Amino acid sequence: MLVARRTVFRCRRPVRTVFVTVIALAVAAAPAALPAGTPEEASRTGHQIFLQTCVACHGADGKGQSRSRVGFEDPLPDFTDPDFSSREPHADWVGIALNGGPSKGFSENMPSFRGALTMEELDLVVGYIKSLGHDPAWPPGEFNLPRPLVTSKAYLEDEIVFSATVNEAAYGLSSFGGKIVYEQRFGTRNMWEVVLPFGWSERYTGFEPGPTEWGANLGDAAVAVKRAFYHNLKKGSILSGAAELILPTGDRASGLGKGTFIFEPFLAYGQLLPADFFLQAQAGMEIPFQTSKASNEAFLRLVLGRSINFKPWGRTWSPMVELLAAKELVSGEKVLFDVVPQIQVTVNKRQHIRFNIGVRMPVNETSGRNFAVIAYLLWDWFDGAFFDGW
Ligand code: HEC
Repeated sequence: MLVARRTVFRCRRPVRTVFVTVIALAVAAAPAALPAGTPEEASRTGHQIFLQTCVACHGADGKGQSRSRVGFEDPLPDFTDPDFSSREPHADWVGIALNGGPSKGFSENMPSFRGALTMEELDLVVGYIKSLGHDPAWPPGEFNLPRPLVTSKAYLEDEIVFSATVNEAAYGLSSFGGKIVYEQRFGTRNMWEVVLPFGWSERYTGFEPGPTEWGANLGDAAVAVKRAFYHNLKKGSILSGAAELILPTGDRASGLGKGTFIFEPFLAYGQLLPADFFLQAQAGMEIPFQTSKASNEAFLRLVLGRSINFKPWGRTWSPMVELLAAKELVSGEKVLFDVVPQIQVTVNKRQHIRFNIGVRMPVNETSGRNFAVIAYLLWDWFDGAFFDGW
């Protein structure tokens, strides 16, 4: 199992031995011995740099030397495995090789090559190790854009997301919503997910205005499959299609359920833009099985955002704004617009735990449509256990 493999891989406490330190120092020092900027150095290919600098631990084939050879317990990654290699953006690997494993919450047995290799050489050697596991079928990690609060991403995830919504009180009554989303990839370009929403709402015990009580209820659970149909890193575009089935598990009386099965097909698109800006879009339909309980609805969601690192390879801040448009396909119904300004931030060093908070604000038809504060905590479980990499 991937989960187990990756988690075990990341959980181990490094066992330091003199031997390791010697290897690390030797390999880190060797290239530094070359005078910087000589023609020989400039002409080294990524493969040559790998053989001279990384091979002692990562092995000539990039699959990692055996533990007895390296003298430490941490398992080494297999660079030839596209399931591992495709997920990591090139720039992140350059950062790890520049700043060393601990800079991203990885083992200290992965040394820093700052000063030993130039940026150009780091770029070449990472280009080489990336080529070992390159398989065009796997969408690359560069497309793993920050997850917006409402819009679905085009990239495929191995994630658990806990989200909470605090609604502005309506008619003097407050309500909170919660949601757990579990996502898991399968095959080269597919993912399935399960969504479990629940809510707490206040209601009058008798006539209003009067005493109120709080009740907890389940919302409409959902299951979905997604497939990335197309991606092109040169153009910076990725397109996925998904089919979701919403189940009538929610409590209709408390506004948490629609009371019917709903089929929701949608397309999700991601576009990388210059200067770390990005665009995401999702367009779809909600098609209820019983139109007496819910109407057909079409929606379009657009997201513009940017990822910012104040310190290179440090914490990533991603301010985004979502524009949501939805229309019930019933004559006389208007298109409802909402905007959701928000900011996502990486919480730990490994960046596989992220937090996002924003406000959903109705733009038109505001009567009866309230503000809501939405937040989530995301855990990319493929990258390690929750408490790894802090
Ligand atoms: C002294 C041993 C050693 C040397 C030399 C070494 N590495 Fe590593 N490297 C490791 C270890 C150990 C890990 C696993 C770290 C972990 O997962 O906690 C690792 C992991 C990595 C990773 C994977 C990070 C991830 O996303 O999981 C990359 C990329 C990497 N090394 C690149 C390089 C490059 C490039 C070189 C040569 C310039 C190099 N390494 C040289 C020990 C080494």
